[in-house]
Amino acid sequence: MNIARIFKGIKRRMSRSPGQEMVAKPSTPSGEDAFVYSQEWYDQSYHIGRVGVDHRTFEDVRDQYETAGYHRRLNRVLDRVRIPDKPIKWLEVGCHLGLTAYWIAERFPQAHLYMFDFSISSITWCKTWFPYKLRATIWEGNVENICLPNDSLDNFFDFATCIDVTEHLPESTYQKMILELLRVLKIGGSLILMQGNTPNVEHIHILAEDRLVSDFWSAGFKLVKKLPDRYYLFRK
Ligand SMILES: C[S@@+](CC[C@H](N)C(=O)[O-])C[C@H]1O[C@@H](n2cnc3c(N)ncnc32)[C@H](O)[C@@H]1O
Repeated sequence: MNIARIFKGIKRRMSRSPGQEMVAKPSTPSGEDAFVYSQEWYDQSYHIGRVGVDHRTFEDVRDQYETAGYHRRLNRVLDRVRIPDKPIKWLEVGCHLGLTAYWIAERFPQAHLYMFDFSISSITWCKTWFPYKLRATIWEGNVENICLPNDSLDNFFDFATCIDVTEHLPESTYQKMILELLRVLKIGGSLILMQGNTPNVEHIHILAEDRLVSDFWSAGFKLVKKLPDRYYLFRK
């Protein structure tokens, strides 16, 4: 499969509506399109422009993130969570390049991964490269409405991970996502939460850690424990 050609098609689809000329957008000094919270910005500037999903391989990206310590950090967290050795349904919110989903699938062979993102280029990448496709359901979707075309996913998941996502969301989207996570987790299901806090242009919603925890708690989640590296384990 020619991944560069697929992404060229996506770029064309996103930057030009039928019958319209392509309009140059204002750029930052780094050459990235100016940040506007939108699916298009994540498609073009974040996933294609910054990460290079239109020309890089999965191994290349995975090695970069592993060298940067993301895999080690996730393992330190998972070491402290009891995860049963039986078939489980695991939701990975805002799956980006599918790396968290990949490391979970690798570590828990009985887990089926449900992974979504609102970015077409992210989902195209995951559908092309995700190594455990037979144990994954991958779709384009919004945190405001977590469902599949033929399934509302009420009380469906044993586990969910929401890692490096909340800081990207406008306040109202963030609030809707908390309620959606509560709806789709089974009673007794677990949520592993962590917000990124680096000062990036797209991190429009970095919260005080107390506020983050109390938002999930007020919505009805129980805080089970604080995990390493500002991760939290909640239960429904
Ligand atoms: C830093 S990445 C998440 C990393 C990923 N969870 C992991 O651990 O590998 C943030 C992702 O959130 C996605 N995103 C932002 N707003 C969204 C929304 N409203 N619905 C779904 N995905 C969204 C972006 O497209 C981006 O891929």
